[in-house]
Amino acid sequence: MKTGMAASVGVPRLAEAGQDVPAVSAQPAPSRERLLLDFGWRFQLGHADDPERDFGFGRGSEFSKSGGMLIPSRLNFDDSPWQAIDLPHDWAVALPFEKSANGSVTSHGSKPLGRSFPATSIGWYRKLFDVPASDLGRRIWLEFDGVYRDAMIVFNGHFIGRHMSGYAPFRYDVTDWVSYGAKNVIVVRVDATQNDGWFYEGAGIYRHVWLLKTHPVHVAHGGTLVVSEVRPGSSTLAVTTEVENHSDRSQAGRVVSTVLDPAGKVVASATAVPVAIAPWSGNEFKQQLSVDKPALWSLENPNLYRLLTKVEVAGAVVDQYETTFGIRSIRFDADQGFFLNGASVRLLGTCNHQDHAGVGSALPDRIQAFRIEKLKEMGSNAYRSSHNHPTAELMDACDRLGMLVMDETRTMDSSPQALEELEALVRRDRNRPSVVLWSLGNEEREQGSERGARIVATMKRLVRRLDPSRPVTVAQNGGYAGVGVSTVVDVMGFNYNEPQIDGYRQKHPKQPLVGSETASTVSTRGIYANDKDKGYVSAYDLNAPRWGATAEKWWKFYAERPFLAGGFVWTGFDYRGEPTPYGWPCINSHFGLMDVCGFPKDLYYYYQAWWSGKPVLRLFPHWNWTEGGEVDVWCHSNLDRVELFLNGQSLGAKDVARNTHVEWKVKYAPGVLEAVGYKDGKRALAAKRETTGSPARIDLRADRPRISADGEDVAMVEVSVVDEQGRVVPTASNEIVFEVAGPGRIIGVGNGDPSSHEPDKASRRSAFNGLCMAIVLALKQDGEIRLTAKSTGLAPATLVLQCEKATPRPAA
Ligand code: GAL
Repeated sequence: MKTGMAASVGVPRLAEAGQDVPAVSAQPAPSRERLLLDFGWRFQLGHADDPERDFGFGRGSEFSKSGGMLIPSRLNFDDSPWQAIDLPHDWAVALPFEKSANGSVTSHGSKPLGRSFPATSIGWYRKLFDVPASDLGRRIWLEFDGVYRDAMIVFNGHFIGRHMSGYAPFRYDVTDWVSYGAKNVIVVRVDATQNDGWFYEGAGIYRHVWLLKTHPVHVAHGGTLVVSEVRPGSSTLAVTTEVENHSDRSQAGRVVSTVLDPAGKVVASATAVPVAIAPWSGNEFKQQLSVDKPALWSLENPNLYRLLTKVEVAGAVVDQYETTFGIRSIRFDADQGFFLNGASVRLLGTCNHQDHAGVGSALPDRIQAFRIEKLKEMGSNAYRSSHNHPTAELMDACDRLGMLVMDETRTMDSSPQALEELEALVRRDRNRPSVVLWSLGNEEREQGSERGARIVATMKRLVRRLDPSRPVTVAQNGGYAGVGVSTVVDVMGFNYNEPQIDGYRQKHPKQPLVGSETASTVSTRGIYANDKDKGYVSAYDLNAPRWGATAEKWWKFYAERPFLAGGFVWTGFDYRGEPTPYGWPCINSHFGLMDVCGFPKDLYYYYQAWWSGKPVLRLFPHWNWTEGGEVDVWCHSNLDRVELFLNGQSLGAKDVARNTHVEWKVKYAPGVLEAVGYKDGKRALAAKRETTGSPARIDLRADRPRISADGEDVAMVEVSVVDEQGRVVPTASNEIVFEVAGPGRIIGVGNGDPSSHEPDKASRRSAFNGLCMAIVLALKQDGEIRLTAKSTGLAPATLVLQCEKATPRPAA
C-alpha cells in the first residue's frame, strides 16, 4: 500500500502575519479534497412488503456473507429504467396527495408514506463514480448531510451501515472497499415508512452527499474548536484541534493554525510542538491565539473569520482544513435577558421546519439563504431549527447574514444513537457565531420527570465536553413544577403557557428564561373569513389554537417582561402537514407569517412593525368586495397615528398603541382605500388598496436578475396576475403555464394555497389570491434563461435571467 501520499505537493506556504492568503479551496492539489456527490444519480421506488418489487431485498440471505450485497450494487446492473436525478432529492413531494382513511398521513402533509403505503415508502438510489489509482493510500469517506430516513448504505456490494435519523449528518470511512482506478458503486436504500416527527419530513437523500479524501494523518471530522473571549480591544482564541493518525506507523505531527480576518488578512498564527501520534490513534492540540481589535460578529455586521489548520508531518503539509468562526460574546441573564457583545438584544425569533414550495425538503442552498433574508426583512433576528438538525447551508446563511440560532437536536434521549446525533450537531455547528443555544428537546413526555432530568444531564455533559461556551435549553410545554428537565437546563424554555411564566420566575429567580415557542396564530394569505370547507383561516390576527395566542397577545406579554430573553413564533413559514385547525382538503399548516412560497401574510407586518425598527404601515384587506357590505379594515403600523380615507373621505384617525393594531369598520364602496400614517405630527407613510379591474396580464419578478451557471443556483420567481393598470388582482386564480428557454429548468412551483392539490413538480400552477411562484434552476452553462408565463385570456410575460459563468463546485 502506498502511503505518504503526494497530496502536499503544490500547497504554498501560508504568508506571514499581515499578508493576504487565498482560501484553501483555491489552492492547487489540496491535501484534502471534498467532492460534491450530488450529480448523476438514479432513483427508483422499491417496495416495503414485496421483495420482488424491492430488487430482491428481503428474500433472506443479504447479510449472510460480506460483499455481493443488493442486486443494484452489481456494476453491470441496468439502471437505465430508473429515473435520472440530481441531489438534493425528495421523492415525497412528487407523490400525489392522499386522504388516508385513518388520518395517519394528515399531520405529515397527506403524502402516501407509512406502513399502509408500501409501494411509495421505499426509495433506491444508485450512483457510479471513479476513484483514480493515485488515490491509493488516502482515506476515502462518504458523507451524507441528511437522508430521510433509515438509510442503508451499500458500497461496492458491502454493507457499510444503517443510519436511522432523518436529520443528523453521518459519514463512513469506506477506504477498505474502494476500487482504485475503476468504477465504484453506491447504493442507498431509504425506508421512509416510519416518521421522525409529526410534520412533513420528505423522503430520500434530500441534502448533499460528499466524497472526502484525506491523508491518513488529518484533522478529525468536526475536529476543530475555536472559543473566543472578547476583551476590550482584543480577543483571545482558545483553539483545539483533534488530529487522527489512520495509519500503521507512528507519525510525528504538528498543527499550524492561522487566523484570517474577514478581509482575508492573516491576523494571528501559532505553531504547535510536534507530537508523535501513535498508529490508529489521535492527539488533541491546544493553542492560544490573540486577535487585536477584532471585527466582532453582530447582527448588523456578521463578520466572519477563518481558521486555517495545517497538519504537518516530517515538514510536509499533509492536511489543510478551514473553520469559519466569529468573534463575539453572548450571555443569558435571569433579569435582563440576552446579551450579544455586551449589549442587550431581544431574541425576535421564529421556529421553522425545513420544507419549501416546489421542492419539499430538498432545498437548493440558495433557498436557505432566501428564507433567512425574508425573515431578516421582517425584523426577526433569531431562528429555531425546530425540531431537528438544520441543514449546514441554512446555518451558513445564518452566520453570513446575521441571524441568531437556537440549534435543536431531534431526540431528547441519552441512548447511544441519540447521543451520536447530538454529537454530530454540536461538532458541526460549535464554531458558528450564530448559534447561541443548544436545544436538547421539545415537549417531551419526560420533561417533568426525574428520569427526564437524568437523560438531559447526560446530554448536557456531552454538549459541555464538546462546547464549553454555550448554554443548553429544552422547549417545555409543561413540567414547570421544579422537578425534571427544568432543573438541569441552563436556560428555561417556555412553549406557550404565558400564564405560568411569572410564577415560575418567582420560584427560580436565577434561571434565564426564553419563549422557545410562542403564538401558533393561524392565518391564510389574502383570506379574510374562516372557511372550514375550503380549509382557509382569516388573515386578521384573531385565530389561534387552544395552546396558542394571537400575535398581539403573546408579544405584548413578552414585551412587558424584559427578563424574558425573547421568543420564537411558531412559525416563520408555513410548512406541509399540521393543517390545524382543519383537516382534508387542507394539506399544509396555517402557522406561518409567510406562506410556503415565502409570500408574506398580513401578520408578517405586525412583527415587522414591532420588531424591525423601520417605519411600517400595512393596510388590509384588499379592496375587491361586493358593494354594500361592511369590511373590517386593519393597519399594522408602528407610527403614532393613522388616518383612513375611502375615496378621499376621511373615516377618522386613530392613535396606535404600542404593540397593537388599529381598525375601522368600513361600509364598502369600490375605489381607493388609503391609510396615512403620522410620526411626531408629520406625515410619514401612506398605503393604498384599490379596487382592481379583472385579470389582464402576468407580471414576473425574480429575487435576483443574475444567477450562477453552477448547476445549483436558483431564481425565485414571483408571478402575479395583474389588471390593465398593473395592480395585483387579489382574488385571481388563473392557471399559469411556464416555458423555459436557455440554460435553466423549473424545479418546482407553488402558490401558498394550503388546500391546493396541484403538483409541485410541474410547469404550471394556478395563482392563489393573485400570486404563485416558479423556481428556476441554473444549469452548468452560461447564457440567457427566458422564462415565459402564459394563461388563457391574459397577456403573457417573459422574464430574462442572466445565467453567469461560474465554476461549479468540484464534483465526483
Ligand atoms: C407545538 C409543537 C410544534 C407544533 C405546534 C403547533 O406544541 O411543539 O411542533 O406542533 O405545537 O401549534
